[in-house]
Amino acid sequence: MTVPSFAKLNLDLRILHKRPDGYHELRTVFQTISLHDTLSIEFELAKRTQIDLSSSIQIADNLVVRSAKTILDYLKIKAWVRFVLKKRIPMGAGLGGGSSNAAAVLAALPALARKPVPTPDLVRLAESLGSDVPFFLYGGAALGLGRGTELYPLPDQPARSAVVVSTGIHVSTAEAYRALHRPAPAPNSNVTNALTSPADSPILREFQTVAWGLADLHFDQLPFRNDFEGAVFNTHPELPAAVRKLRRYGAKPALMTGSGSALFGIFETAADARLAVSRFPAGAAFPVRFVSRRQYRKLWCRALGPAAAASCFAR
Ligand code: C5P
Repeated sequence: MTVPSFAKLNLDLRILHKRPDGYHELRTVFQTISLHDTLSIEFELAKRTQIDLSSSIQIADNLVVRSAKTILDYLKIKAWVRFVLKKRIPMGAGLGGGSSNAAAVLAALPALARKPVPTPDLVRLAESLGSDVPFFLYGGAALGLGRGTELYPLPDQPARSAVVVSTGIHVSTAEAYRALHRPAPAPNSNVTNALTSPADSPILREFQTVAWGLADLHFDQLPFRNDFEGAVFNTHPELPAAVRKLRRYGAKPALMTGSGSALFGIFETAADARLAVSRFPAGAAFPVRFVSRRQYRKLWCRALGPAAAASCFAR
């Protein structure tokens, strides 16, 4: 079985406060894009579990293997699994590559074992692997709340043209959060209650404007923002320089994705995007398109095969 594993952009990302569980409360708009890794999987039930991974680049803490162990344990089966991962999504870049690979494994192994997994269980396993993993069970455009794992669908966007710029700078997500110095909520304040948001928050009001604007498709007039930009851009001045360059070539908006360091710009046409790509050093910029939930679902279900019809996708 060969499964495409797509990257994501955070079209908007706001970090509210540090939560009692150590994670940060956030609001984000996720969007899958055409940039993707390819994961080939051989699978056979066996007396004991053996998981092999060969990848086009060396990966330290590999989510593919962790994800495979997690789902095999859940299914209570032992298997010989061999993964070949063709990596195209830059790592440590805020594009969700590792999380996307993990979600692909969570969807693929139950299909290969012909053991469908109820969606709430699949989502719970995804959450245990990382905050961005559940989104990749759905794809398309989605609102992410809480630590990023509470997801609501947004209307599919058109297949907009975008450019992703990868500078090769590796940003640690945990460090990027720490650098924000977001306060923990005061004891007894209502924000410690997971169901209550801060009563008077300009961040939330602005985020809401973006979310409603996306539904109405007034895309280029929206106040998109990524709260990580301040701290990350301060440390790496080449990043704001690349954002300015994207804007010069017509990107609207141009910002960072996730905790960085990849940047992206949205363009009016594919030709504009290609022109912008040509202005960056070879291999540093990629022309991409938004991948809608419909397309994402179609491509995954096709890869997972007809036998997986019931289990191939979170619904
Ligand atoms: O969930 P994930 O493993 O991707 O998160 C990596 C790190 O980023 C966490 O250990 C935590 O320090 C930070 N994080 C956070 N708040 C979130 C998501 C991640 O503080 N909502």
